[in-house]
Amino acid sequence: TGAITLDPGYKNSGSCKSDITFLDGEQGILRYRGYAIEDLAEKANFLEVSYLVIFGELPTAAQLEKFENDIRKYTLVNEEMKNIIDGFPKTAHPMGVLSSLTSALTAFNPKVVNVENEEEMYTAVCKTMGKFLVLATWTFRKTSGFPLNYYDNTKGYVENFLRLMFELPTGPYTINPVIVDALDKLFILHADHEQNCSTSTVRMVGSSHAGLFASISAGVSALWGPLHGGANQAVLEMLEEIQKDGGDAEKYLAKAKDKNDPFRLMGFGHRVYKNFDPRAKIIKKAADEVLATLGVNDPILNIAKQLEESALQDEYFKSRNLYPNVDFYSGIIYRALGIPTDMFTVLFAIGRLPGWIAQWKEMRVNKEPIGRPRQVYTGYALRSFKPMNER
Ligand code: CMC
Repeated sequence: TGAITLDPGYKNSGSCKSDITFLDGEQGILRYRGYAIEDLAEKANFLEVSYLVIFGELPTAAQLEKFENDIRKYTLVNEEMKNIIDGFPKTAHPMGVLSSLTSALTAFNPKVVNVENEEEMYTAVCKTMGKFLVLATWTFRKTSGFPLNYYDNTKGYVENFLRLMFELPTGPYTINPVIVDALDKLFILHADHEQNCSTSTVRMVGSSHAGLFASISAGVSALWGPLHGGANQAVLEMLEEIQKDGGDAEKYLAKAKDKNDPFRLMGFGHRVYKNFDPRAKIIKKAADEVLATLGVNDPILNIAKQLEESALQDEYFKSRNLYPNVDFYSGIIYRALGIPTDMFTVLFAIGRLPGWIAQWKEMRVNKEPIGRPRQVYTGYALRSFKPMNER
């Protein structure tokens, strides 16, 4: 094993070449296909950015309209899927349900399992964008006990997310453009982040030529963990705990620094960003704006700001380059929008979907080899077998 370089957690290993996302962790730069995240969050909508991330160029008006129409065609989900949803207890975590439902899609869409040409690739992309959104919202309808909703072809993708989530049989849901804008921005900021844990998972699973739904189902599972996308739920739960405990941010900073305490400051730190996370900057500003526009006064926002301010001045956090990441303020916006805490990571998944798709597509188009890391073996040398009565 002399030739094998050990790199646990892949801290210093590139797994592929990619044209999709540029990330400079020292300077806090993030670009999709060469476009600054700040510009995209401000000026584009989520489907436009999805198109950019997946196909490489900003769409023309006609291309975007076609993409939106093609996605719409696939927003109907096979009726049998409902039996699967019915089988889950109401207490199930939406991420577990979403991963299972995404995997279950393979049973009803064999062509997405085996993409053989460009046309099938395009169909797989649109099917995934359409069906995943509907299923993601259905995980909430299931846990909240509301009847399942269907996509409204007269409305946009993000508007449909809101309707699918919140429209009740008693009457139409009034779509607030402030909320649509905020969600567009949040989804855009989550759309891709090069070879993070869930994306690497999607590529790894896909590298065996498993299909798009199967690979994305695995990505959802990887995203769920609290060190990754699950951090947005964990941040809000942490802030609520601090609030219940009297609002003493310093006490929790001390816990986070204590090496004998497993507690970490959730929403802080990043494998690649060692200066600041550019997404967190935009989201912090958006949180202020959204709460002001909606007239929400959430004391939890103040706790978050206090925590951030103290951490940024603290030697422990400074010396380790620990800054707020994308998950630190996003939950505060989601909460102001009326999204339940256990759905936060599902929203991350909806945002990350175009990135997963783009990376899976790039891997297949580039005909990358199967992912197969090596190891440094540290176990026993050859031992002689002991019969049962001698053990
Ligand atoms: N609170 C307290 N200490 C921390 C934290 C934190 N949030 N993050 C890192 N550290 C310490 C860590 O204990 C270590 O200290 P020492 O050098 O004394 O052993 C040092 O900083 C380096 O940390 P690491 O664990 O080696 O860094 P990593 O690159 O392996 O982990 C991370 C990155 C994001 C998993 C980690 O910072 C973390 O657990 N953060 C909290 C969870 C979180 O917010 N995750 C969201 C990440 S961003 C969006 C996403 O991916 O979904």
